[in-house]
Amino acid sequence: MAAAVQTRASEVSGGNEFAFTDHDFRQIAAMLYADSGISLPETKSTLVYSRLAKRLRALGLESFRQYCELISGPDGTDERHHMLVALTTNVTRFFREPHHFDHLRENVLPPAIEAAKRGGRLRLWSAGCSTGQEPYSIALTLLSVLPNAGDYDIRILASDIDPSVIATARRGIYSESEVASIPADLRRRFLEPAGDGRGLSIGDDARALVAFRELNLIGSWPMKHAFQAIFCRNVVIYFDDETQQKTWRRFQEHLAPGGQLYVGHSERVGVTGFVSSGLTSYQFTGQPR
Ligand SMILES: C[S@@+](CC[C@H](N)C(=O)[O-])C[C@H]1O[C@@H](n2cnc3c(N)ncnc32)[C@H](O)[C@@H]1O
Repeated sequence: MAAAVQTRASEVSGGNEFAFTDHDFRQIAAMLYADSGISLPETKSTLVYSRLAKRLRALGLESFRQYCELISGPDGTDERHHMLVALTTNVTRFFREPHHFDHLRENVLPPAIEAAKRGGRLRLWSAGCSTGQEPYSIALTLLSVLPNAGDYDIRILASDIDPSVIATARRGIYSESEVASIPADLRRRFLEPAGDGRGLSIGDDARALVAFRELNLIGSWPMKHAFQAIFCRNVVIYFDDETQQKTWRRFQEHLAPGGQLYVGHSERVGVTGFVSSGLTSYQFTGQPR
């Protein structure tokens, strides 16, 4: 997310196109929190104003008060979704924090692949997958050690609250600069030129491993099987402390014993049952509850 701006809503509205009061800010923040778990401190009011001003213009509204009336009313469901999309950050890249993928390849995958070859199930989850770079990086890491991964019961669940990023992820087409952080040999083996000659497309081997789903991490989770690894990086960082702790505990329930949780470099998992296995990966030591 953009750097915090030390401004209160009351200061933002001064001389601006739309009136924006502290009360408007608090209403918007409360609705975003209820819908997504994302907690907006008042220091984000400039960001809220600038991202939502486009919505007010598109809707022909004159003030944030009118906008708040719309999103809190019975006809506001669609706009609440637009608001969520406008206020979430989707920044991601291929092989972000590459040590996580090295750790996955060297520590998690060898025993899990052996088990899959004996008929076992291997499940990995990218929770908050944004536009797909994270789950495809997991798929490419898998293919680097098991090029015929598709022959086994191996799947990567990739989920996000925002259907528009899921749609981009499903398309699986990226620019030359976006794919530059993929190791060259993996790019050569598992990506192909996109149909229109612009950018590169994720090849079928990697696509076949990934199932994209819309899923709100603060809602119910329909998955029944345990995961050998969960990547949830730079997502719960926007939640308040209580929601973060709750989410880490829910991941425990969905990890196989010895399963691995990867979090972003500025995140910490202070929940009993996890031991740090170096950098920002945590091993789940107990039994799923
Ligand atoms: C900054 S991106 C992180 C992408 C990727 N994990 C990475 O680290 O590169 C954060 C993503 O979390 C998603 N997100 C935010 N709140 C969520 C929620 N309650 N449930 C599921 N996804 C959420 C956003 O839509 C966004 O795509």
